[in-house]
Amino acid sequence: MRATDRSRSALHQPPGRRLPPPGGSQPWSRPRVRAADFDDRESLTRAFDGAERALVISTDALGRRVQQHGNAFDAAVRAGVGQLLYTSLARAGESGNPLVPAPEHRATERLLARSGVPFTVLRNNIYPDVLLELASLREAVKTGVLGSISGTSGEGDIGYLGCIGYVGYVAREDCAAVRAALLAEGGHTGEYLDVTGPVAVNYAGIADALTQATGRPVRFEARPEPESAAAYAARGAEPERIAMAAQLWAAAREGWLDIATHAVERLTGRPATTLAEFFARHREALLGQVESDDDVDRSGSA
Ligand SMILES: NC(=O)c1ccc[n+]([C@@H]2O[C@H](COP(=O)([O-])OP(=O)(O)OC[C@H]3O[C@@H](n4cnc5c(N)ncnc54)[C@H](OP(=O)(O)O)[C@@H]3O)[C@@H](O)[C@H]2O)c1
Repeated sequence: MRATDRSRSALHQPPGRRLPPPGGSQPWSRPRVRAADFDDRESLTRAFDGAERALVISTDALGRRVQQHGNAFDAAVRAGVGQLLYTSLARAGESGNPLVPAPEHRATERLLARSGVPFTVLRNNIYPDVLLELASLREAVKTGVLGSISGTSGEGDIGYLGCIGYVGYVAREDCAAVRAALLAEGGHTGEYLDVTGPVAVNYAGIADALTQATGRPVRFEARPEPESAAAYAARGAEPERIAMAAQLWAAAREGWLDIATHAVERLTGRPATTLAEFFARHREALLGQVESDDDVDRSGSA
């Protein structure tokens, strides 16, 4: 339930009062910040006091999240909040969902539905930031091949499992814009909205997006056989990274994340960020190594 600093609550102004344009001078535009702890019900109730609508962003405490989210919902009920929003996960409602966080999101969604407060569930697809962590994008830009394993950078690519799976990556900024729009306007109560990018892509789509964003040709090369986690570990990939990626890509391969909707555009009035646009924001990081290597090559050959 994070919106501003420690308050973890997004307090909403009365209806009809639109957010001012950036740089606007309306006196009420400054947010009020209240501290609250998901493990401290009283602090939550105080934070919610007077809120017409509230956004509860799922916590990061795996194993304790249902209790924490339940605390927030109870507090919202006590404070008389008129609408609750909750950030869930793609297809969290389905019991077969293999993603580790899914059961806690599912249990939380049930609590929310039983809270008696009008609610909206925002089921986010995967953030593309995850790709920056789990796929060897810099290597792909450098070598021109996504799916290659570098023996030099220690950045073993554990993407094979997911290369054939499609994911509707959604930018965090778009998720935030959807939440802001709902907090400002309300509505969509009782709905479970899939918040996704504009299109679901597989590894070939990721390679295309890298090409567009960096101007360097990148192609995806499928490996003939999946590589074992042990093989990736031997190439220097960290065990935690392997486990996370294997789990995510397996879910992608099974189609759990193959969801793309128009929710972002419908709710915010602007199209969802494409993967190429997201990568373009990280162009410097993706190209950094390549450009400095090019410089070395040029000075070496001069
Ligand atoms: N869809 C996706 O691809 C995706 C990817 C990553 C994460 N997520 C989800 O997004 C959520 C946040 O993940 P994140 O990576 O953004 O986590 P994060 O950066 O570690 O942020 C966690 C936040 O929770 C706050 N917090 C922790 N315990 C709290 C408590 N008891 N009371 C109040 N606030 C508390 C922390 O506050 P302090 O900073 O003050 O400690 C911090 O601001 C998680 O639910 C995660 O599952 C989704």
